[in-house]
Amino acid sequence: MLGAPGVGKGTQGRRLAVAYGCALISTGEILREAVARGTPLGLEARRQMDSGRLVDDRVMIGLVRERTGEPDTRDGFVLDGFPRTVPQAEALDAMLAERGQRIDAVLYLAVSEDELVRRLQGRRECPVCKRAYNPEGAPARDGIHCDDHPTTGLTTRLDDGEEAVRQRFTEFREKTAPLVDYYAAAGRLRSVNGTGTVDGVFEALRREAGLGSRSPQTA
Ligand code: AP5
Ligand code: MG
Repeated sequence: MLGAPGVGKGTQGRRLAVAYGCALISTGEILREAVARGTPLGLEARRQMDSGRLVDDRVMIGLVRERTGEPDTRDGFVLDGFPRTVPQAEALDAMLAERGQRIDAVLYLAVSEDELVRRLQGRRECPVCKRAYNPEGAPARDGIHCDDHPTTGLTTRLDDGEEAVRQRFTEFREKTAPLVDYYAAAGRLRSVNGTGTVDGVFEALRREAGLGSRSPQTA
């Protein structure tokens, strides 16, 4: 899943992983978990994340190499938030080639920046399952608790403050947007309009994913 902050990578990546019965690897979630637990990775990543900057390629490539080697990825995986730089994309190609694996599709979601800012300002997350909600477009049933964890109150993300969001957009424009050309040149890019209902975007992604003979289950 490729796209700017707030475009729906997590929301849709989660649904695709369920639909195709494969693992979801969200690098942002892995890092936030590490920060919460105060692990060495968390201590190293915290400052960059809080200010909206990307974490070093070296750290991210090592993390994804390790995570994609775990048993639950055997039937495939959805990557949400990786790669985010050209060196990360090159490292991913190399590590998959080593294992005889390949990327089926790079799904690029696009939404206007005004809409993205609105989404990030309104985002609330479940601290247990990390599902994202939004009063506009993806509301929780009662507005304050997770639908799947009804006693858990929704929280905001530290990097959704105004300044960090500005920095995240700058990082996206400078370091991640070049991946659109990188994957288009390799004929692997599938662009999808990320505006519209969550269900509508999901259907469009599923059409574009082109996962061949795999039979999607109902998400
Ligand atoms: P990460 O967690 O990946 O953040 P991000 O890319 O900024 O993306 P977000 O998670 O904010 O948005 P999203 O696209 O997942 O949208 P969501 O589904 O939540 O990374 C965080 C940080 O970790 C980075 O800044 C960096 O420091 C570090 N990091 C991570 N990976 C890295 C890497 N590879 N290299 C270096 N550093 C890395 O949706 C957003 C909101 O919109 C929600 O409220 C949702 O409910 C709502 N919404 C979703 N779809 C719709 C819709 N169709 N209509 C209306 N609302 C919608
Ligand atoms: Mg996300």
